[in-house]
Amino acid sequence: MKDGKFLTLAIESSCDETSAAVLAEGRTVLSNVISSQIAVHTAFGGVVPEIASRHHLQNMNGVVKQAMEEAEVSFSEIDLIGVTNGPGLIGALLMGVATAKALSFARGIPLVGVNHMHGHISANFIAYPELEPPFLCLIVSGGHTNLVQMTDYNQCRVLGSTRDDAVGEAYDKVARVIGLGYPGGPKIDKIAAEGNPDAIAFKRVYLEKGSLDFSFSGLKTAVLNYLNTERQAGRSINTADVAASFQAAVVDVIVDKSMEAAEMTGQSKLVLAGGVAANSRLRRDLQRECSLRGIDLYVPQPILCTDNAAMIGCAAYYKYKAFGPDDLYLDAYPDLAI
Ligand code: KG4
Ligand code: ZN
Repeated sequence: MKDGKFLTLAIESSCDETSAAVLAEGRTVLSNVISSQIAVHTAFGGVVPEIASRHHLQNMNGVVKQAMEEAEVSFSEIDLIGVTNGPGLIGALLMGVATAKALSFARGIPLVGVNHMHGHISANFIAYPELEPPFLCLIVSGGHTNLVQMTDYNQCRVLGSTRDDAVGEAYDKVARVIGLGYPGGPKIDKIAAEGNPDAIAFKRVYLEKGSLDFSFSGLKTAVLNYLNTERQAGRSINTADVAASFQAAVVDVIVDKSMEAAEMTGQSKLVLAGGVAANSRLRRDLQRECSLRGIDLYVPQPILCTDNAAMIGCAAYYKYKAFGPDDLYLDAYPDLAI
């Protein structure tokens, strides 16, 4: 029911989740339907872009319809359509953008393109209705690793980024080499709970002093080298110990750099965003360090951390309020900067 509220229909299809959501007043989720393609891509050990695009095409209309039905609203009540238009897989993004543009044109509803990373950050506005910028945000996803300072709802300053692999990418690659399969993040998280994080001393990579950038590709190679050495020596490999030790090396660096960023910027609010924000060790260690320093940590529930359209709807609302609509020339940009 509309009840005089501003309603946003949002669409997300940047990778392997087809999702549609309806939000009231930008922050209240009326529906958030997510159709995951994980089962389809598992056989290939990762997301196959062409297959992802085809599945978005098959699933999109049904997902949008379900989101509208669950929210109990009609298209005539929708005030805004928000859609992810980058960064992501180009074919996958285009499915969402084409759907949003068609609906906008057919129904005369204003349209706004949303940066997927702003969407991840905005998941926190849904999870924490009282949260307002400015704050520090740690974005850890399959494609990105950034420390940013959000100065208002639509503006951010990038303080640090990965120079090679994104943290989720490192999790997925390491999971593959230790035989856990795809998607690697949640599987490493789970098995690491049974392992010893101090079993293998993987090097923590901090880069130059004062830098808030990250580098994870060396760690991935270190895991590979460890496995090769052990196999060649005929020793058995304890997968849980490798997972736990890898995870400890990743999380230690992320936590230290986040604390350094908080100190450098003087921010007392740290907000987590992206799929890897679902990681249990990262949540636990960040909470411990934040408590010691009097920093408030904001962590959305896992369903809002991984790709979903509700976060896109929230970001769309604030972008539209500040800058108005985009036109129907809206395009998809695989490398759209944060
Ligand atoms: O944000 P997201 O859903 O998609 C991108 O925009 O990339 O993030 C997906 C990434 C994958 O690399 C996945 O392995 C990782 O998040 N991930 C996790 C966990 N859950 C998902 N990584 C570590 N621990 C988890 N519990
Ligand atoms: Zn994402």
